[in-house]
Amino acid sequence: MNDTPQFLGRNVFDLDDYSAEEILYILEAAQGMKEINLREYKKIPTLRGKTICTLFVENSTRTRMSFELAASRLSADVVSFQASVSALQKGESLQDTVYTLDAMGIDLYCIRHSSPGSPQLVHKYSGKPVINGGDGRHAHPTQALLDIFSIWEKLGSLEGLKVTIVGDILNSRVVRSNLIGMKKLGASVTVCGPSTLMPGSMEDIYGCRVEYDLKTALQDADVVMGLRMQLERQTEGLFPSLEEYSKHYVLSKETIKWAKQDALIMHPGPMNRGIEILPEIADGRQSIIVEQVANGVAVRMALMFLILGGKA
Ligand code: CP
Repeated sequence: MNDTPQFLGRNVFDLDDYSAEEILYILEAAQGMKEINLREYKKIPTLRGKTICTLFVENSTRTRMSFELAASRLSADVVSFQASVSALQKGESLQDTVYTLDAMGIDLYCIRHSSPGSPQLVHKYSGKPVINGGDGRHAHPTQALLDIFSIWEKLGSLEGLKVTIVGDILNSRVVRSNLIGMKKLGASVTVCGPSTLMPGSMEDIYGCRVEYDLKTALQDADVVMGLRMQLERQTEGLFPSLEEYSKHYVLSKETIKWAKQDALIMHPGPMNRGIEILPEIADGRQSIIVEQVANGVAVRMALMFLILGGKA
């Protein structure tokens, strides 16, 4: 019997498809990839001959670039679909876009789209494995994996850790994927934000704690993650002003004192400095925000390697 987790040809729609054992296996693989990224010559031939398409129909800096860097460090060919200059602008459907790309011999798609469920559609149209790089408010599993990897690498395990995630919980796909993954690895997660930015039934759906008061939420936290105030999705005036939001929820020298003394400070980016987090914290001693970005390349390399059956 083979107990090694099997990843060949699998999709990464969200982390609920992956067991704790499988997530830990990905973290171990990412550790190996990180070592490659620290070498002077940061490239291995393992995916030579494979073609990976980044199909991004929503803006991104970190996720797109780290997928593309990950693919090229594994020696795959990369096709970078640019939505703003593509035939999508002439009315071509996602289905015909995928049929067109697929005709060119794509082996793996990495997709970002504003519509939840788009990764599943790309898999349906192409029959190829798909990694979700963020679909609407639904899921962002590779961000959660890199967040989890960053904590695991620093603290050794997530078992028994207290993680507090603060901000725009309603609009965040990052928080949903992190809640699934962190809980599988044994962390206790508290989500905190204004009631108007807090979806109902969070405790029941995700098994997390919900707090509306920042001081209470940060008590004894080992890890504090700020979330971006998603100004582009704020169409309903869910709080009076950004100043009002900051007054109650900003991560600053004063508020971070409520967490454990050496709590890790995280943020998936992009940040609204001065709104959800102050520069003194984002760039401070406890911040691992820049490391999160670096770890994103390693985690995405690990997924591509495992899904496409790279040769070690
Ligand atoms: N964290 C994240 O998804 O950032 P990008 O939008 O820059 O990819």
